[in-house]
Amino acid sequence: MTELDARYWQTRYLEGNTPWDIGYAAPALVQYFQLIHDPTIRILIPGAGYGHEAAWLNDHGFANTWICDWAPKAIEAFINRHPDFPADRILCQDFFSLHLQVDLIIEQTFLSALPPSRRPDYARKCHQLLAPGGRFAGLLFSRTFEQEGPPFGGSRQEYLDLFIEHFSEVILEDCPDSIGPRMGSEVFIEARY
Ligand SMILES: C[S@@+](CC[C@H](N)C(=O)[O-])C[C@H]1O[C@@H](n2cnc3c(N)ncnc32)[C@H](O)[C@@H]1O
Repeated sequence: MTELDARYWQTRYLEGNTPWDIGYAAPALVQYFQLIHDPTIRILIPGAGYGHEAAWLNDHGFANTWICDWAPKAIEAFINRHPDFPADRILCQDFFSLHLQVDLIIEQTFLSALPPSRRPDYARKCHQLLAPGGRFAGLLFSRTFEQEGPPFGGSRQEYLDLFIEHFSEVILEDCPDSIGPRMGSEVFIEARY
């Protein structure tokens, strides 16, 4: 199986082979952001890619937003498009080596990009990065894929089992606001510390 390391992802960006990129902040996530009343909360977007959600948050006054991605090409493109985004909130490194504390972690096509064997580490690491009272929220595929991933799919039950190991409450709902090609195949998750 192909090793899904930083080099693999960097190559995908260099080749322009980025079908996951929707080109703008996902509407379901924007709706979630619009319900946040405190713009000072610390938000992390791991495996952010071109970082459309991070740019939206920064543009809407959420000044404590971090992105993390280990593909330099994705980060470079983000910086070129958003030169005003604070440089110290752009982390070009392995998510699993992060040391910071945040109040909210936003998920979109990152879990599905990880080797499935790393999912338990992912849930654990997200919990570790959150301050007490924090939340992990976002979109997860509620389907399987025929071809070998990434993306790797999953099911509600799998996600529930994964996150309830660490979080006190896990809410999973069908997502009515998915983009067209993902309609009916995503769930919205909110896991509470
Ligand atoms: C499928 S893309 C999703 C990008 C973005 N979330 C989106 O929806 O457009 C997965 C991203 O995760 C990054 N990635 C994968 N494993 C990573 C890791 N261990 N640490 C940091 N970034 C990682 C890849 O470089 C890639 O940009």
